Amino acid sequence: MGYFIVFAGKGGTGKSTLAALTVKYLLSKNVKPVLVVDADPNFCLPELLAVKVRETLASVRDGAMHNKPETMSLDEWLEIRINSVIEEAEGFDLLVMGRPEGSGCYCAVNNVLKRIIREIADNYRYIVVDNEAGMEHISRGLLNKIDLLFIIATPAKSGIQAALRIDELIRETNIVPQKKVLIVNMAFNEIEDSQKEQLLKYFNKIHYVFFDRDFMKLSETGRSVFNISENEPVWKNFKKILEEEIE
Ligand SMILES: Nc1ncnc2c1ncn2[C@@H]1O[C@H](COP(=O)(O)OP(=O)(O)O)[C@@H](O)[C@H]1O
Ligand SMILES: [Mg+2]
Repeated sequence: MGYFIVFAGKGGTGKSTLAALTVKYLLSKNVKPVLVVDADPNFCLPELLAVKVRETLASVRDGAMHNKPETMSLDEWLEIRINSVIEEAEGFDLLVMGRPEGSGCYCAVNNVLKRIIREIADNYRYIVVDNEAGMEHISRGLLNKIDLLFIIATPAKSGIQAALRIDELIRETNIVPQKKVLIVNMAFNEIEDSQKEQLLKYFNKIHYVFFDRDFMKLSETGRSVFNISENEPVWKNFKKILEEEIE
């Protein structure tokens, strides 16, 4: 199976931005094929990657029982539908998960989805996953492997606390990430040594991505990560981290 790079963290910490930069990095290394999974219902990742999304996995799930031709099994039908939801972009494919299921029971559909997603992931060398804070898709088992986990935090004490809570959420699932890295994003300084020591009990490594005011405008102007300058400080900063952490 491919190498899963998973981003987690509270909203607004920079997950989607760093996930998009990771895709840019992998493409620059020519390590294809890459599957990008947007598992945040408030998606902005497609825009950062300059992809237009027509449909999400959620709409496949919710409509699965209604639209299925009678002559087809649920498995066959879902496989066809999921493959039609995956957007093919330049050098990578994108699957947008959409809303997690509501109170209705989609157990049968979910079990088939789990299997199909695993099979699909088998076809890729790298899978980059951008998660929402609640990690809903992970806790429901739709995503079940993490090689490299990036937990993104803002530098305030409350930001670090939030990162620890997300780490706890993941420890409650059965998924054991091969490597867990804390990224302090939008940083101005490194964190104090005493706190750092504490955090290294939970994370293999702590890295910093420093705040860059011009970069803040990236999402406001609707630009993609493919048209930023090679000298962009956040990109140069994060690229070094990826070089160190990605196998
Ligand atoms: N290092 C950074 N410096 C300045 N702005 C940043 C940095 N990292 C991310 N941003 C900005 O922060 C905002 C939130 O980022 P986003 O990736 O959408 O967060 P999330 O996906 O976690 O909700 C965006 O406007 C983004 O451009
Ligand atoms: Mg996001």
